[in-house]
Amino acid sequence: MLSLLHVLPLLTSLALASPIQLPHLLVTRQDIQTPINSSLPNVTIFATGGTIASQGASNTQTTGYQVGLGVQQLVDAVPEILNISNVAGYQISNVGSGSINSTISLTLAHMINAELAKDDVSGVIVTHGTDTLEETAFFLSSTVNSPKPVICVGAMRPATALSADGPLNLFQAVTLAASPAGRDRSTMIVLNDRIGSAFYTTKNNANTLDTFFSTEAGQLGVFINQVPFFFFAPAEPVGRIVFDVDSVSDLAQVDIIYSHQDMDPALFNASVAAGAEGIVVAGVGAGGTSSKAALAMEELYNATGIPIVASHRSSDGFVPSGEDDVTIASGFYNPQKSRILLQLALTVGYDEAAIREAFAKSYPMP
Ligand SMILES: *[C@@H]1O[C@H](CO)[C@@H](O)[C@H](O)[C@H]1NC(C)=O
Ligand SMILES: *[C@@H]1O[C@H](CO)[C@@H](O)[C@H](O)[C@H]1NC(C)=O
Ligand SMILES: *[C@@H]1O[C@H](CO)[C@@H](O)[C@H](O)[C@H]1NC(C)=O
Ligand SMILES: *[C@@H]1O[C@H](CO)[C@@H](O)[C@H](O)[C@H]1NC(C)=O
Ligand SMILES: *[C@@H]1O[C@H](CO)[C@@H](O)[C@H](O)[C@H]1NC(C)=O
Ligand SMILES: *[C@@H]1O[C@H](CO)[C@@H](O)[C@H](O)[C@H]1NC(C)=O
Repeated sequence: MLSLLHVLPLLTSLALASPIQLPHLLVTRQDIQTPINSSLPNVTIFATGGTIASQGASNTQTTGYQVGLGVQQLVDAVPEILNISNVAGYQISNVGSGSINSTISLTLAHMINAELAKDDVSGVIVTHGTDTLEETAFFLSSTVNSPKPVICVGAMRPATALSADGPLNLFQAVTLAASPAGRDRSTMIVLNDRIGSAFYTTKNNANTLDTFFSTEAGQLGVFINQVPFFFFAPAEPVGRIVFDVDSVSDLAQVDIIYSHQDMDPALFNASVAAGAEGIVVAGVGAGGTSSKAALAMEELYNATGIPIVASHRSSDGFVPSGEDDVTIASGFYNPQKSRILLQLALTVGYDEAAIREAFAKSYPMP
């Protein structure tokens, strides 16, 4: 459902829009098995690359491996999937997730909305590198308008490794996408036997298997002998906005500037000079910077009105509103999720008041 907040700026932006060239990646549908079993749910896999699709030179190599396995090879490694669902695949890209860009994420949103609109599709999964998986998951949570499950899944060990985690993660993701229990919960992340919300789950460790979790909001559920178990009845994240990106072909540029001792205040203007339409500050503490950086932000804001969102560089916590008039408080959104929300808000034409409200929807105002 679209909120008024959402519809008004969107209508304005559509009214002004000229014909749009949609992003287009050459993507073809692959039906993985024939014939299909019509008594099974249908799940569509959107493969983008990442460690889950990677191979090392030996079974002990767990760094420095190469991306390259296609969607057919992912499923071939886990034929058990075909006993619980009919799967079809789309190879959207085959890159490490550091190289996922707005063309890929918009293509995913467009194709997933179209796929979930089909009556015979129960859910979709996105296979993805783990490094930026939380960003794509948050983007899809903010752009896919369907009660059906959208599951983002990856692996920490390449397919060739001893104890590779990709196959079971993939099986669990398909199980959840095929399950009625996965409905009405918005986009989820599945790794290491856990089910997390795209809103709050983050990658906490660069290397270990138990890296995806949310400290404060917790996990939504777990897999028990591969059956999804949810701790709570279906619920959506508080403050979720679904942006209509059907006719969007590019996203507004938003940069993240990291706050630290002796930070260079010149980076704010440099970022805008390079094309940023919004800035997120990964602030010290609850959104802080040095006094020099704060002055540079205030001068920039006074001169341009550019939205500057204050988030936190700590892995958890929140930034409350009302700290100053220049920055917009990120609430509970970490810098990378704040960036995506700001990109979407700017892209559909939100003004400053609407952007402030979009961020404030996610936490209680004092
Ligand atoms: C189709 O799936 C159903 C439900 O799992 C199963 O009982 C049946 O044996 C399957 N049919 C074939 C031809 O595999
Ligand atoms: C899966 O797709 C087939 C072909 O469209 C359809 O007959 C079947 O009902 C679908 N399964 C479910 C559970 O919707
Ligand atoms: C699929 O299910 C059938 C019937 O239960 C079983 O014989 C077969 O081994 C299963 N295949 C896989 C790959 O699990
Ligand atoms: C995003 O990456 C894809 C695949 O690598 C590429 O085809 C596309 O041109 C890239 N888009 C942008 C905006 O760089
Ligand atoms: C920015 O504008 C406000 C409101 O006009 C003003 O009070 C403030 O002094 C300005 N800040 C700077 C650094 O110029
Ligand atoms: C940044 O640019 C603004 C104008 O856009 C200017 O007022 C301000 O002095 C500049 N700040 C720095 C630190 O160069």
